[in-house]
Amino acid sequence: MVDKTALDREKARKYLRALCVQIERHDYLYYRANRPEISDFEYDCLQAEKQALLKLYPEWSQDEGPGSDLGNSHFPTAKHLLPMLSLSNTYSQEELFEFLHRVEGKIQAHCSYLLEPKIDGVAISLVYEHRHLEKAITRGNGYVGEVVTENVRTIKEIPLILPKNAPEEIELRGEIYLTERQFTHLNNEQERLGLETYANARNLAAGSLKLLDVKEVARRQLHFIAHGVGFVGHDIHLDTQEHLYSFFKQWGIPVFSFAVPGNNAEQIWNLVERFRLMQGELSYGTDGVVIKVNDRLLQEQLGATAKSPRWAIAYKFEPESAETLLQEVIFQVGRTGVITPVAELVPVDLAGSKVARATLHNFDEIQRKDIRKRDRVIVQKAGEIIPAIMGVKKDKRSASAEKIEVPLQCPACGAPLLRIAGEVMIRCTSLNCPPQLRLKIVHFASKDAMDIDGLGPKIVDILVSQGWLKDIADIFTLIDHRDLWIRLPGFSVTSVDNLLLAIERAKNRPLGCLLYGLSIPHVGVELARKLAEHSTSLEQLMQLSVEQLQEIPLVGEIVAYSIVDFFTNARNQDVIEKLLRVGIKTNFLEKPTKHPLNGKTLVLTGSLTRLTRFEAARLIASLGGSVGRIITKQTSILVCGTNPGNKLTKAKALGIQIWSEEEFLHHAGIMHANKT
Ligand code: IVH
Repeated sequence: MVDKTALDREKARKYLRALCVQIERHDYLYYRANRPEISDFEYDCLQAEKQALLKLYPEWSQDEGPGSDLGNSHFPTAKHLLPMLSLSNTYSQEELFEFLHRVEGKIQAHCSYLLEPKIDGVAISLVYEHRHLEKAITRGNGYVGEVVTENVRTIKEIPLILPKNAPEEIELRGEIYLTERQFTHLNNEQERLGLETYANARNLAAGSLKLLDVKEVARRQLHFIAHGVGFVGHDIHLDTQEHLYSFFKQWGIPVFSFAVPGNNAEQIWNLVERFRLMQGELSYGTDGVVIKVNDRLLQEQLGATAKSPRWAIAYKFEPESAETLLQEVIFQVGRTGVITPVAELVPVDLAGSKVARATLHNFDEIQRKDIRKRDRVIVQKAGEIIPAIMGVKKDKRSASAEKIEVPLQCPACGAPLLRIAGEVMIRCTSLNCPPQLRLKIVHFASKDAMDIDGLGPKIVDILVSQGWLKDIADIFTLIDHRDLWIRLPGFSVTSVDNLLLAIERAKNRPLGCLLYGLSIPHVGVELARKLAEHSTSLEQLMQLSVEQLQEIPLVGEIVAYSIVDFFTNARNQDVIEKLLRVGIKTNFLEKPTKHPLNGKTLVLTGSLTRLTRFEAARLIASLGGSVGRIITKQTSILVCGTNPGNKLTKAKALGIQIWSEEEFLHHAGIMHANKT
């Protein structure tokens, strides 16, 4: 709680600044990097603190927009016809009732409400022109978003064409999500491959939406549920939100809502409670209920602030938490040397499992929350994020509570730790650090890097303990140990030879994969690909200055320094030299592997037997092609089913390539060429 008397103006100002810095950092981690460090609840607490301060000092308020998830990604941007706002939210029943009261006071009448789940997904605006899906745009900063149409076309609930009773022009809005099941499945797969896992389904959905490989997006199986509209063309009358949803249902688009007639707070609250119980039964993650005024005219009358509409509110459920004793703090070393403080707890039951460890994120967080050893702490498991320490019961602090000192040396190898300017992280920069080495080797062998099938964490552990792997380049001299290796328990001639073969094949991986595999801090898979696209070889890239690197898209100052630091480090130079000596290709530039149908316009005619037209259209879209309605000079291919119409005559006249259904399926890669 903020008390104006206790907190003088100057202190408050400083505190607000610190809060804003924190919030900005977490906004970046959540919206752009898709790797949040704190739960949504913790984030909302920071925001609530900021709002409380601004209430005391309204002169410091700024008219803020709805926040931004615009990154420097590869997708073009587009403007929303009507802005995509956020929802104001609350965790308190009292505030929810205040909202109902406020609405009633404003409109001077009773009104009915619609209640629906607050889906934990990614907002999207689907722009239909002439009833055809033209663009799918992310929320971005609320006014301008990123165009991710091709990826969105892979979602089965999203129609490519709307039926005749739909308006010609409409911005249809909703949430893209991954089912909890699919999230677990994909994350397990990531883990099995030794790749980074995602904190929760929302982050994995957001990351998937921004992939460059449409096929991979399709494989992830994203879903969609609608919850509103932006701009609507004139040819439709929508008096209520419910009415809008009945149209969505007719068009085959999923929606989920309950209506509460009259301004009945008790009934609304009962329904909120039912939603709370329903939480675990829905296939998607939810973190609350959205309460919306049903009448669209009243919605308009109530209007919106710069951030959110005044006709809706999100009531959010507080995630489950528990109190326990923080016994000890240990320090874990990550792949790029980042040190993460982890709390060891007296085990406590939380959301159906026993929790004995929780992350403390970083030392700034420890300081901000003033967490000490032997404190009673509140642990929380929010979404799929690993349990986190929310705060301290200061009133229960014992005299033996002890400050958590920032370590000066790496807990694993003893090397001095460094805090890099501009980062909150502390890193071990030693290249001989055992846990880092193990993680680095596993990463180097992973699918998006060198793709050495079979070289997972368990085998790496064995090979490291044999003393055969002291750096990533040693992978290529494992052949020297073959005779001993095949005799190790759990190995055979076949398994070892298969692995050696996979290692040999890895020498020809494209430069982007090699760069990603090197574990350069801040260089993820997309950035590594971009770096490779802008250079001719590893050797050339190593010569680039901070300024030259910054000319490459996606490379900012921090990244540029990180790359230069990495390549000027003598140990890294040794490892790279070793890689060159064993014959790794460092100049193999991958041409983007596009499907032959990518960019092609296909027209369908006649009836198809193996799949419906809709399925065919979706398949074409998922391969990067598009479906035209009429034959024009721009048409690339006509797919001809039985009883074709006059499109066939026109295509022949224009000399356009014509495929049978079988040929089409063959080219799409889902059937062999032999005709049936
Ligand atoms: S209505 C003017 N309904 O929550 C905002 N939004 O904080 C209209 N969200 O970005 C949104 N479930 O993507 C609405 N049932 C629901 C929702 C929902 C999730 C998301 C939405 C928006 C965010 C707002």
